[in-house]
Amino acid sequence: MKLFETVTQMGHEQVLFCHDKDHNLRAIIAIHNTNLGAAMGATRLFPYQSDTDALNDALRLSRGMTYKAACANLPVGGGKAVIIAHPQDKTKDLLRAYGRFVDRLNGRFITGQDVNLSPDDVREINKETSYVVGTQERSGGPAPITARGVLLGIKAAVSHRWQQENLQGLRVAVQGLGNVGKNLCQHLHDHGAKLFVCDLDPKKTAEMKRLYGATIVELEKIYGLDVDIFSPCAMGGILNEFTIPQLQASIVAGAANNQLKNEGLDSCLLQEKEILYCPDYVINGGGLINVYNEMIGYDEIKVFQQLNNIYNSLLEIFNIAKTEKITSFEAAQKLAEKRIMNVKVKQVA
Ligand code: NAI
Repeated sequence: MKLFETVTQMGHEQVLFCHDKDHNLRAIIAIHNTNLGAAMGATRLFPYQSDTDALNDALRLSRGMTYKAACANLPVGGGKAVIIAHPQDKTKDLLRAYGRFVDRLNGRFITGQDVNLSPDDVREINKETSYVVGTQERSGGPAPITARGVLLGIKAAVSHRWQQENLQGLRVAVQGLGNVGKNLCQHLHDHGAKLFVCDLDPKKTAEMKRLYGATIVELEKIYGLDVDIFSPCAMGGILNEFTIPQLQASIVAGAANNQLKNEGLDSCLLQEKEILYCPDYVINGGGLINVYNEMIGYDEIKVFQQLNNIYNSLLEIFNIAKTEKITSFEAAQKLAEKRIMNVKVKQVA
């Protein structure tokens, strides 16, 4: 990999390679952009096949965090860290050694829990640095707020597509009934939507049927359903060249991260089918809003106010996409970059 060419092209400010021989630590901290504030991004521990895979993950995810924060209108920047290790080799010493590297950045990077790290692991890192979030859950976890954000995103998409906000009678297919999906189902039911659901776990689908009269659908049939909205709330990569041709929904709006398998290609496929796609990192920004507010002192009223940014940003994104004849995915990046540049211009002036 041509390192400087890559970071120049992707726009990173700083990439830190952390090595502590005594505690077997190999980690990469990528700080993408701090124009809006300190770089926030969780730490992922993963047995990457190669150092290049680890670096690519850190670079890609940190840039995603910059865009996510900008679209949520939060005064934070984007970062991400990866620890290259097998979960079974995770030790308290390794975590604390990592915490010391985070601390040396003096608040330029604030981190938390991602894949293969538990709240207890974050507490271990916290013994070496105060620049962590998620050690005390004052809010009861991010999922309910993420679900509220997704509901607002759905309303924005419905408003753009059908010039109404009323969800009464709309048919919504929800894929994945975990912490976010089940909360979303409740909101959609309360708003009069008709639910179609699937999950790997039959107990979860049965619960949605019992509580909200949801229709249970087989896993693979969820894509081709005759519905108005498809809401992916399970895993990434589910929008691709095989699933997009099956979609009959007019709107795709869900919480799952990295929904598009190939961002450039699949966002165009969706646009060609005239499907309005809510970029995942915009519509699922409630999780970051929640974490940010835990950091500054949790105030539910402020959190709910900030959630409206998801609605407003999505409307702006749809309008940019329409006016400039680009995909909503490209429009979201444009909006984020504009907000970051505006701050830079003010700082220079
Ligand atoms: P979760 O782990 O609680 O739930 C995921 C659900 O998806 C589980 O019930 C699982 O059985 C189901 N599932 C897995 N594979 C499936 C498949 N092939 N078909 C149907 N169902 C399947 O996760 P959570 O917290 O609800 O998050 C959902 C998605 O939203 C994830 O992609 C997550 O990264 C993303 N997200 C979550 C946030 C949060 O606040 N929890 C914030 C931002 C994004």
